[in-house]
Amino acid sequence: MQITEGKVAVVTGAGSGIGLGMARAFAGAGMRLVLADIESGALDAAVAELRVAGHEAIGVRTDVSRLSEVEALASATMDTYGAVHVLCNNAGVGVAAPIGQTSIEDWEWTLAIDLWGPIYGVKTFLPLIEAQGEGHLNSTASMAGLLAGPTLGAYNVAKHGVVALMASLERDLRVSRSPIRASVLCPGPINTKITSSERNRPADSAAGHVQTAQGDKFWGNLSALLSQGMDPDEVGTMVLDAILQERFWVLTHPKMARLVQAQVDAMVGDQSLVRV
Ligand SMILES: NC(=O)c1ccc[n+]([C@@H]2O[C@H](COP(=O)([O-])OP(=O)(O)OC[C@H]3O[C@@H](n4cnc5c(N)ncnc54)[C@H](O)[C@@H]3O)[C@@H](O)[C@H]2O)c1
Repeated sequence: MQITEGKVAVVTGAGSGIGLGMARAFAGAGMRLVLADIESGALDAAVAELRVAGHEAIGVRTDVSRLSEVEALASATMDTYGAVHVLCNNAGVGVAAPIGQTSIEDWEWTLAIDLWGPIYGVKTFLPLIEAQGEGHLNSTASMAGLLAGPTLGAYNVAKHGVVALMASLERDLRVSRSPIRASVLCPGPINTKITSSERNRPADSAAGHVQTAQGDKFWGNLSALLSQGMDPDEVGTMVLDAILQERFWVLTHPKMARLVQAQVDAMVGDQSLVRV
């Protein structure tokens, strides 16, 4: 997509972190925004910020783990702007626990938001974007979509699924000579609120969370790492550039791809252990 001025972008998880960074970058490029998030207060504040800055934006409270709410998000977008050109499936959560102690509720909550959210988004928005004759779908995976480190099993599974979803979509669009493009964002450490994901978890699901010493230690270390991480506004600009330049892979920390190479080397060398 070459021109963004006046185009309509939908961003999920836009109330905080990377999603808010994308919304700011897209608005700065003249796009009209639909911000979606499960957290109403954060969503309202994000919409207000963009409007005060003179941008066109609406907010639609959405739980991306529910197909009916993603469909309602699409309807609200079409009712307001009559078009949609860009979708960013970005909302996400994380739970830290070793696989053996990851509860079914933790698996279901993570996969429902992190994997089914993007699947619902693609399924619902692809035909609407195709009807415009131009556009772009991006989903936020993670380096955890390319590497499976310890203590983050459910998240790793979901994010590997998101990479496969977007790679499959990109290939399908090319095979059909579609003008629509797709990309996947694989961030490294970004300074956001992801390690307090539980803030938006429904009580019945949260009751099934199994706390582990390994998970707590991992989350503590990750929080410290992320507090020194990249500014999410920078990530937003990277995604805008990828849309404009029609690039598939968006790696915020490309040097981390060496770890993916080490994994491939271990696979070819038939070794099971790689440090990630
Ligand atoms: N921060 C990092 O270092 C990092 C690294 C790799 C990938 N990611 C991914 O980036 C994406 C954005 O996360 P972030 O780091 O900005 O964290 P964040 O917590 O700051 O933002 C996530 C947003 O998603 C929203 N959300 C949560 N559940 C939702 C639901 N069911 N429906 C709709 N919205 C929901 C939250 O309210 C929040 O506004 C996630 O997919 C995450 O997995 C983050």
